[in-house]
Amino acid sequence: MTPTQVVAIDGPSGAGKSTVARQLAQRLGFGFLDTGAMYRAVTWHFLQAGCAPAECADSQEQGVARMRVALAAARLELVAGRVVMNGRDVTPHLRTREVESQVSAVSALSFVRAAMRDLQRTVAASGPVVAEGRDMGSVVFPQARWKVYLDAAPSERARRRSEDFARQGRTVSEADVLEEILVRDRLDSTRSDAPLRQAEDALYVDSTGLTTESVVAQLFAFVQADERGQADARGVVVS
Ligand code: DC
Repeated sequence: MTPTQVVAIDGPSGAGKSTVARQLAQRLGFGFLDTGAMYRAVTWHFLQAGCAPAECADSQEQGVARMRVALAAARLELVAGRVVMNGRDVTPHLRTREVESQVSAVSALSFVRAAMRDLQRTVAASGPVVAEGRDMGSVVFPQARWKVYLDAAPSERARRRSEDFARQGRTVSEADVLEEILVRDRLDSTRSDAPLRQAEDALYVDSTGLTTESVVAQLFAFVQADERGQADARGVVVS
C-alpha cells in the first residue's frame, strides 16, 4: 500500500511544478518532495563516477553494470530542502548543463526508477507531502488523495526556463531552451518505464499566463475542498 496523504503534481519541464509545489507545501504545512532533483543527483553521481550514459555509450552492457555499482554506493538524502549525496550537499550542481544533458537518459533506466520510487515512498510514509515529478500520480502514488497535472504552452515554459538560467547568471536563448525542452518532453513521454502522462483522475491545470500565486491558490483550494468534504462526511467542521 503506497502512502495516500500526497498531493501528486506531474507535468512537463518548465511548467512551474517546483515553485508551485514548494509554495503549496509550505502553505499546507506538508513536506516537499522534488523528485526531479533526485534524478538529477543520481545523474551528477554517475558523472562523478565517469559512467553517465553518454560516457559509456560504446559498451552499453558494461555501462549499465558500472551504473548499477555506482547506484548501490549512492546514499541520497533530502535534508531541509537540500539534496545530499553521500554526505555532500550537491544542490548547487543539479542544474548544470552536463546534468541536464544526461538526466533524461538516466531517468529512463528502470533500475534507477525502481530505487527512486522506493525512496520516494519511504519519504511519503513519514508524513503528508507535496510530491512533484513525471510519474507521481500515475505510478509512484497511484492512491494519492490529490492529483494534479500542471501544464503550460511550450513557448511559456521556454521563457520561464531562460529566466531561471538568467537568474543563475547563464545566458541561453529562448529558442535554444525551447529546443531542449521539446527534446526532453519527447524523451520523458516516450520512454517505456513510467512515461510522462496525465493520471486519469488528475486535475488538469494550464498555467499559461497565470502567476505562481494564482496557481498555488487554485491548488490550495483544491486540497482544502477535499479536506472539507472528508471532514463534513465525518461530521467535523473545518474552518
Ligand atoms: O523536473 P526536472 O526538470 O527537475 O526533472 C529532471 C528530469 O528527471 C526530467 O528529464 C525528467 C526526470 N524525472 C522523471 O523521469 N521522473 C520524475 N518523477 C521526476 C523527474
